[in-house]
Amino acid sequence: TPHKVIFSGIQPTGVPHLGNYLGALRQWVKLQNDAAPDTRLLFSLVDLHAITVRQDPKQLLQWKNESLAMLLAIGLDPKRCTIFHQSDVSAHSELMWILSGQASTGYLGRMTQWKEKTANEKENSEKLKLNLFSYPVLQAADVLLHRTTHVPVGHDQAQHLEFAREVANGFNHVYGQDILIPPQTLVSPAKRVMSLTHPVSKMSKSHPNPKSRILLTDSDELIQSKIKSAVTDSIEGVTYEQDRRPGDLAADLANISMRVLKEQVSSAVTKLVAPIRERHESIVGNESLLDDVATLGAAKATESAAPTLLQVKRAVGL
Ligand code: ADP
Ligand code: NA
Repeated sequence: TPHKVIFSGIQPTGVPHLGNYLGALRQWVKLQNDAAPDTRLLFSLVDLHAITVRQDPKQLLQWKNESLAMLLAIGLDPKRCTIFHQSDVSAHSELMWILSGQASTGYLGRMTQWKEKTANEKENSEKLKLNLFSYPVLQAADVLLHRTTHVPVGHDQAQHLEFAREVANGFNHVYGQDILIPPQTLVSPAKRVMSLTHPVSKMSKSHPNPKSRILLTDSDELIQSKIKSAVTDSIEGVTYEQDRRPGDLAADLANISMRVLKEQVSSAVTKLVAPIRERHESIVGNESLLDDVATLGAAKATESAAPTLLQVKRAVGL
């Protein structure tokens, strides 16, 4: 059997938060630590995805740097994994263009995320940009380029991975060869971490209220104050009711007060975040280290991408 190739990405659109960690990054480290010697792991800061929304250029550069430092701070090892900025490897964009020839606009238009993001803009298609519509094709290119066999994804991305399989099978069907490998979903045990201020939606880098998320760079005091002011309801006790109380969890906490629960959560979260924050602080200012990691990652990812891109171009006659 061919060896395993694991690929995943995170947008450098802010400092990673607790949701990113519990929902994705923690699994990446575990996958690295448990991996067989011949498993290849690629983790990308997907900056090309980040620009599907208008970004301030200076801010984006800073976030790219901080996010790279964070991947090291959580325990990813650049000797063991390929850690790279997506835009450093132009094969991602090239393959995306070629695969656009397999991507139906009907399928893309039915994507839940597209429908959600455009629900309010229906009257104003001037505002809707093409890369927001087509970014699932870039995601497909990201994974297919590296002959990825397994992609750890959250629930929100499962549909896009199904699309990637569709694109791979479509391409192979048209060009009559097994050039692209339809990737499998690696279902992670990860949970969706909810916003602290709007607990019906998930914690996210882009929510305007900074108190809605706990950053992996937050001090103990800041974490405590964010959790203290987190939105709860006025129902006695703690239960998990998906519809009535979507922000709560945990049956074994049934009879404790909200105050005690918040203290317990604060203590658990600060314990988890503090060592990551401290490592991040010691890495983020080390420009030469971060440059070296990015350069190494770009070289390894470029090498990993080359055979697939070559085969695809040959197959279509380019
Ligand atoms: P964000 O939505 O904060 O911009 P990304 O889109 O960059 O984050 O997602 C990076 C990874 O983090 C993805 O695997 C995504 O599923 C996961 N993730 C993002 N937010 C959460 C959350 N609130 N709970 C659990 N996982 C999350
Ligand atoms: Na996102």
